[in-house]
Order: sequence, then structure tokens, then C-alpha cells
Amino acid sequence: MALLQNAFTYIGIGVVAYYASLLLTLAYDVFVRSGVKLEKFGAGKGFWAVVTGCTDGLGREAALELARKKFNVVLISRSQDKLDAMAAEIRALGVEAKVLAVDYSRVDDSKWAEIRSLLDSVRVGVLVNNVGISYDFPMYTEDVSEERVNELVELNVRAMIKMTRFVLPQMKERKSGLILNAGSFAALLPSPFLSIYSGTKGFVKYFSQSLASEVEKQGIVVEHLQTYFVCSRMSRTRKPTFLIPLPKPYIRNVLSKIGVQGGSSEPYTSIPFLSHALLGFVGERVVSKQMAVNYNYSLLSGLRKRALKKLEKEQKAQ
Ligand SMILES: NC(=O)c1ccc[n+]([C@@H]2O[C@H](COP(=O)([O-])OP(=O)(O)OC[C@H]3O[C@@H](n4cnc5c(N)ncnc54)[C@H](OP(=O)(O)O)[C@@H]3O)[C@@H](O)[C@H]2O)c1
Repeated sequence: MALLQNAFTYIGIGVVAYYASLLLTLAYDVFVRSGVKLEKFGAGKGFWAVVTGCTDGLGREAALELARKKFNVVLISRSQDKLDAMAAEIRALGVEAKVLAVDYSRVDDSKWAEIRSLLDSVRVGVLVNNVGISYDFPMYTEDVSEERVNELVELNVRAMIKMTRFVLPQMKERKSGLILNAGSFAALLPSPFLSIYSGTKGFVKYFSQSLASEVEKQGIVVEHLQTYFVCSRMSRTRKPTFLIPLPKPYIRNVLSKIGVQGGSSEPYTSIPFLSHALLGFVGERVVSKQMAVNYNYSLLSGLRKRALKKLEKEQKAQ
């Protein structure tokens, strides 16, 4: 009996010590550790950062922050007027900017060739594969329009593959480069009622991790950035909270912690922002996946019902 008691005590101490060491590592990553310096990828040396979906939300902040860090910036997004305004903001920071209007949901061969030749014309130090789309609100898989399904695949999957393949040869030649891929908690935890979005972000996760391992010995850093909610048009949240930050502090934190895992235990994956790191830690290491999916089911089905009610009200008011 005493032997059994002792065994349980040692197991208990072992479990507590294990979680304490994980929490210490998390605290070190979030509060102390700094990431790979952006100078390694050419900041301040005439190199260029390429940002897709750069006129709003996270992409806009990434473009501005990289310009503040003295990268010239290639801005690629959908709306020419917004791109021109962004370019003026970037140039006011004392660096160069080039713009290309691209609607990633309908890119033909000649447009891909135009994008490629623009990227080939500059020394790309950083590629931020940010462009992405979700649903207007959570819904059953068969209710998503064909048009939206196409956009989800073209923006979240094909654009990332094509842009990455365009810059890899020059990065390999120089043995240097950073590719930052916009992932989501929808790949950390399966997301019922967002199945296609969740699936595309699952692609982003495995594509990024596989590629990261493939090219790391060639001096290229590929990072899968796993993001929970951030205030933006996509998240339909404007007011920041502890869990849902504004894009500016979020992106500043991300770019100062390249290569830092934070709340993730996944390879080549980063969840560096404090509140997201805590959520990631709990989602990956504390609760079971099934519990988390069940929670997601009730959260997202509730959001779906609320969105449908709002839509009904709006339709009645017309
Ligand atoms: N915000 C979040 O809570 C959150 C959470 C997890 C992951 N993420 C990921 O982070 C990334 C950015 O999200 P966000 O919230 O910053 O998005 P956002 O605020 O909706 O901004 C999207 C950007 O992409 C551009 N864009 C949209 N459709 C396009 C198209 N067909 N072709 C080219 N550009 C297009 C938009 O340009 P226009 O201004 O012309 O429309 C805008 O610049 C996405 O990959 C998303 O999945 C976001």
C-alpha cells in the first residue's frame, strides 16, 4: 500500500514538474526570448518584403512594420486605389514601394507571369503569404456558395503555393529568406461550420511545416503563424480585448519573435502573442482535441444562429 502511495506521489510530482517546465518555457518565449533578427533577411540592405492582401488588417500592418524595419515593400492586393494609398504611406517611411493589383480569386496565366516577373526583378528577403478569406458567418458546408468555395481555395491555398514557388529559387541562391504564412487556430482545432476554411488552414499548416524542414538547411526560414482572433474586417471585431488584439501590436510582436514557438508545440509554428499563446497552450496541451471540437461546435453553431437572426431582421427591415 505504502509502495503504491509512493508511486502515485512520484507520478504526481513528475506531472506537476512537466507542466511547470512547459509553463516556464512558455513564459520565457513570450516575455524574454527575441526572435531571429530581420537584418538576417536583408532589412536595411536594399532587400524587399512582399506582402499579399496588404491593404487591410494583418497584411497592412505587416507591410508597414516591415517598412519601418527598412525593407522596401512589394504590395500585392486587390484594390488599386488602396494600393496607391498604401504605397504613399510606405514611401513616407523612407523606403521604396512597388504595387501590383491582383485579384487572387481569378488569376490567369499572364497575370501569374506578371507577378513572377515583378518578384524576379527585386531581391526578396521576406514573403508574407497573408491573403486569405473566410466565410461571412459560420454555416453548413453545403450552404457555402460555389463562388466562395473557389475564393477559399484560390486565396488560402493556390496563392500561397504559387507565391512561395516564385521566390524560392532566388532565396535558395542567396541561402537566405523568410516566408511567413498566415495560419489560423482553425488549423489548431477543427472548426465545424467553417469546414472549408478550417481545411484550407490545415493545408497552410502542413505545407508550411513540410517546406520549413525541406529548406531550413538552405538558410530559409518558413514560419507557420497560428493566429487566433485579431480585430479586422475578416474577424468582424473592432474593439480590442485581452484575447483579441489590434493588428498593430499583434504584428509587431510577431515580427520581433520569428522562430519563437510561444504557445505552440508544433514544429515551425509560432503563437507568440501572450493571450494567443495561452490559448494555444491550453488548446494543444491541456484539453483533449475532442473536448475542444465539441466546444467549437457549440461556439460556432451559436454564432451561426445569431448571424441568421440578424440577417432575417435586416431582410425584414428592407
Ligand atoms: N483576423 C483574424 O482574426 C484572423 C484569425 C486567424 C487567421 N487570420 C488570417 O490572417 C490573414 C489576414 O486576415 P485579416 O483579418 O487581416 O483579413 P482582412 O482584414 O479581411 O484583409 C484582407 C486583405 O486581403 C485583401 N484581399 C481580399 N480578397 C482579395 C483577393 N481576392 N485578391 C487579393 N487581395 C484580396 C484585402 O484587400 P481589399 O482591401 O481590396 O479587400 C485586404 O487587404 C488571412 O489569411 C486570415 O485567414 C486572421
